[in-house]
Amino acid sequence: MSRTSRLSAAVLTALLAVLLSLVVAPASSATPPSGADHGVDPAEDLLVIGHRGASGYRPEHTLASYELAARMGADYIECDAVSTADAVLVCRHENEISGTTDVADRPEFADRQTTKTIDGVELTGWFTEDFTLAELQTLRAVERLPELREENTLYDGLFAVPTLDEFLQLRADLSRELRREIGAYIETKHPTYFDGIGLSLEEPLVADLREADLDRRRSPVFLQSFETTNLRELDAAGVKVPLVQLLSASGAPADLVAAGLPYTYADLSTAVGLAVISRYADGVGPEKSQVIPLAEDGTLGEPTSFVADAHAVDLLVHPYTFRNENEFLPAELDEGTDPAAYGRALEEQLAFWAAGVDGIFTDNPDTGVLTRDLFLDADVELAPAA
Ligand code: G3P
Ligand code: CA
Repeated sequence: MSRTSRLSAAVLTALLAVLLSLVVAPASSATPPSGADHGVDPAEDLLVIGHRGASGYRPEHTLASYELAARMGADYIECDAVSTADAVLVCRHENEISGTTDVADRPEFADRQTTKTIDGVELTGWFTEDFTLAELQTLRAVERLPELREENTLYDGLFAVPTLDEFLQLRADLSRELRREIGAYIETKHPTYFDGIGLSLEEPLVADLREADLDRRRSPVFLQSFETTNLRELDAAGVKVPLVQLLSASGAPADLVAAGLPYTYADLSTAVGLAVISRYADGVGPEKSQVIPLAEDGTLGEPTSFVADAHAVDLLVHPYTFRNENEFLPAELDEGTDPAAYGRALEEQLAFWAAGVDGIFTDNPDTGVLTRDLFLDADVELAPAA
């Protein structure tokens, strides 16, 4: 790089730092950022996070999925939280629920089908905010990916949509039974959208946590979001549990887009962006390709500087999402051509543990526990592929 290029890169970096600091500043000028002091110990064990429970084996975000994840050894189970019409938080990946419940087959709710724009995307379906909790609890969960996970359709129609309270109660019950603390990893979904319809997610979230006596510095809880404003508000409100800024390989946080600000996940994922995030959060959840991208031929490439950049500012790194099926694996780790067949998922995960990540979100918590243990036991090696 020439001297002029180096100079302009330095100027651009400094400019980005100033601009991001202004945009992603403390949510309340009366309350300074905590410096992300939420009682996180970076030396803690490597974490296996049951993504939507054990969603590789059960319909996602059901108590059965969470319970299986815990029994498989997951350290944390994940609830994505959205609101009902009566402001109760329930666990669903999106507020549009036609892909994960039987709502489309319920004649009594046919007139609730509608079209909305959520974070700039037009969607037609059924939305949690149009149902009371009592109505929502009459629905039953179905498998989101029936073509890839045909076995999971066995459970279609069996399980209800859980509330966040029920999720937290299950966590407590399983922690007692299994004699180890099962953590709760909770994501607020579409917080700007829910603010806009008068169903803010953060207040009931904090209320539920406090009711469960979990808003403490060493509570086994992480709060996560793809948006920035709500995390900064939670930090400014004095929430004691660790906060995780979710990132993506493309796009921009919906709150910044809604505010007309030009900053993207790519900006937030630079060393400068991560330093700004570390003012209010304790960790980051990148898409796995931000840690190890795929090469042009679809095979696993070389690690980026992402983990080192995040660790340099004391941010934990919990990438998403690790899944056993060929469909989700780098090309060279596929076994056969069936997208639903399991490939060499262990090798993918071992590459990420070796790249220094602090935890992984996985649909297959048993596989995550296995690779974490293989990684920690340096004497064990996988046999080379045939
Ligand atoms: O929250 C981490 C990971 O779950 C983010 O992706 O879309 O599955 O919520 P998503
Ligand atoms: Ca999530």
